[in-house]
Amino acid sequence: MSPRTVSVVNMKGGVGKSTTVACLAETLAAEGGLRVLVIDLDPQSNVSMMLAGQDRWIELRNGRRTIDDYFDQYVYGGEPRFFREFIAPGVSDIAGELTLDLLISTPEFRNIERHAMEKWIRQGFDMQQLAQRFSRLTHSAIESVADSYDLVLFDCPPGMSMFAEAAIGLSEFIVIPTIPDYVSRLGIFAFRKRAIRAMEQRRFTEDRIWTLITKFEAASSLHVSEAALLKDQFNVFETVIPQTEHIARAAEWSDVKRSIDRKYAGAAPVIRRLAAEFRERVGLI
Ligand SMILES: Nc1ncnc2c1ncn2[C@@H]1O[C@H](COP(=O)(O)OP(=O)(O)OP(=O)(O)O)[C@@H](O)[C@H]1O
Ligand SMILES: [Mg+2]
Repeated sequence: MSPRTVSVVNMKGGVGKSTTVACLAETLAAEGGLRVLVIDLDPQSNVSMMLAGQDRWIELRNGRRTIDDYFDQYVYGGEPRFFREFIAPGVSDIAGELTLDLLISTPEFRNIERHAMEKWIRQGFDMQQLAQRFSRLTHSAIESVADSYDLVLFDCPPGMSMFAEAAIGLSEFIVIPTIPDYVSRLGIFAFRKRAIRAMEQRRFTEDRIWTLITKFEAASSLHVSEAALLKDQFNVFETVIPQTEHIARAAEWSDVKRSIDRKYAGAAPVIRRLAAEFRERVGLI
């Protein structure tokens, strides 16, 4: 069976995209028994660091097992290697038996898109053909490992990139984490149009696009009123992620393996609620 594919994306930065990907991946792999693959599409490499830790990240980078190296072979024509060979198996500092694999990103990933564009445009491709090419490459990569996973999560960079477009174009579901404030809500309107178009191309309806309220401060009347507006206007997760140090601290890698309760401490229950709701929404029950 093919895995469920989900992009976590928002044009806005710092809204908790990478954190959402890491929490969902760890909880669903460790406690839900799902086989999860995380693909880091952001040159900032935040989710790579969260899930692999710096030492492993350096090791993978030196071993040329990064998303840049995967696309590099198509842009520069290096020796072809299977997509599977680029994936780091068994990441995360959560203890226990879990299948959580990761394709890391590095800061150099920033350059690939530009180089690919320069090269392919010189060869006579137009922008649409370029986008199709990225999209085909991403699609065939995921197809090649489809049997190994129940869930593939794409962590998208802020803003937009060809890779993020490709991920959205192949994902069955889109999660848009957002902080409940006015500016963020405006941003969602703009981004949703794009997401809806991507869904419609595959005859999917917009009920596959979900907003997740993050960094919620219950004591802020602005957050309370904006969260209510978001719930009125969009398809919003019942689970709301509070602003809490427990979540910010959990981002730091631990060399000692730990349980979900240890890692997420006071935030563990809300992370579990999110994972359960997500699982139901994507139909992995
Ligand atoms: N619920 C939360 N409570 C407290 N801190 C949080 C929460 N969610 C995320 N953070 C912190 O906020 C910062 C931004 O989070 P994160 O990196 O997940 O956002 P992002 O949307 O992926 O950012 P970018 O757009 O740069 O990729 C990080 O330092 C993270 O640890
Ligand atoms: Mg991020």
